[in-house]
Amino acid sequence: MQDFKGRVAIVTGAASGIGAALAERLSEEGANVVAVDRDSPDATVAKVTANGVQGMGAQVDVSSRASMEALAARVYERFGRADLLCNNAGVVLFSTLLDTTDQDWDWMLSVNVKGVINGVSAFVPRMIEQGGEPAHVVNTASGAGLIATGPLPTGAYAASKFAVVGYSESLRAELAPFGIGVSILCPGSVHTAILDTARYAGTATEWKPARAGSPTPTREHVRRMEPKDVANLVLTGIRENAPYILTHPEMKGALEVRLNAQLAACDTAARALGL
Ligand SMILES: NC(=O)c1ccc[n+]([C@@H]2O[C@H](COP(=O)([O-])OP(=O)(O)OC[C@H]3O[C@@H](n4cnc5c(N)ncnc54)[C@H](O)[C@@H]3O)[C@@H](O)[C@H]2O)c1
Repeated sequence: MQDFKGRVAIVTGAASGIGAALAERLSEEGANVVAVDRDSPDATVAKVTANGVQGMGAQVDVSSRASMEALAARVYERFGRADLLCNNAGVVLFSTLLDTTDQDWDWMLSVNVKGVINGVSAFVPRMIEQGGEPAHVVNTASGAGLIATGPLPTGAYAASKFAVVGYSESLRAELAPFGIGVSILCPGSVHTAILDTARYAGTATEWKPARAGSPTPTREHVRRMEPKDVANLVLTGIRENAPYILTHPEMKGALEVRLNAQLAACDTAARALGL
């Protein structure tokens, strides 16, 4: 997809942060935007329509399959199509894995993993059926979906985001024959409300930022990007049908360490098997 003018874009998690910036940026490029969030997306819709395109707000919980199905029906009733689906809504849990309760796991996986799956299941069959211009899906994972060994007690979050990466890599292969691109957004630290709305459990409560908008103690020196800069990278990634959209080239070293450990395991297996 090269041109966003007149396209219909659905963005989840659009009331805040990366989703709000993405919705606004897409509208600046002439796309009509459906802003979806569990909170009121009215402020985002107002910014979108101020750019002279159509905006539609939907207060929907992405973890509900039935609600996402109903949303897709409403979008197709109004616009007759969907060209770009950004499954971006997500939540963070600070908790050691052993402290993570069943309820916390359900919350984490239902929003971060099922939320993405629900968006795809509700919209993509209709996108395939509508045919015509190339369409695109962007699923928001995280740098934590590529490297799980950071200093923060966010193992359940990492597990959910690794799932998004695996799901999306498979989806990219499945949808290519239909002319639908899939990109996986893996942001590093971005200046949004996510740490303020995160859940903090057990001993991990000490990671709660002291003031709204401030980073956790270990992240004070991490480069925090602004959501609008992430939105620009996403638009470039869509235009290039990039499999991955990263925001922090600083991750390169850690990615190499992980890949090297896996390559070393191949060598170990080859030696052990005499291959
Ligand atoms: N901010 C970062 O540093 C960072 C880094 C890596 C990945 N991410 C990912 O980026 C995405 C956007 O996060 P953000 O940083 O903009 O956070 P944010 O908290 O500013 O925005 C997330 C939005 O998702 C919405 N949301 C949460 N649960 C929902 C649900 N069940 N149904 C519908 N909407 C729901 C929230 O209401 C909120 O408006 C998330 O998937 C997050 O995991 C963020």
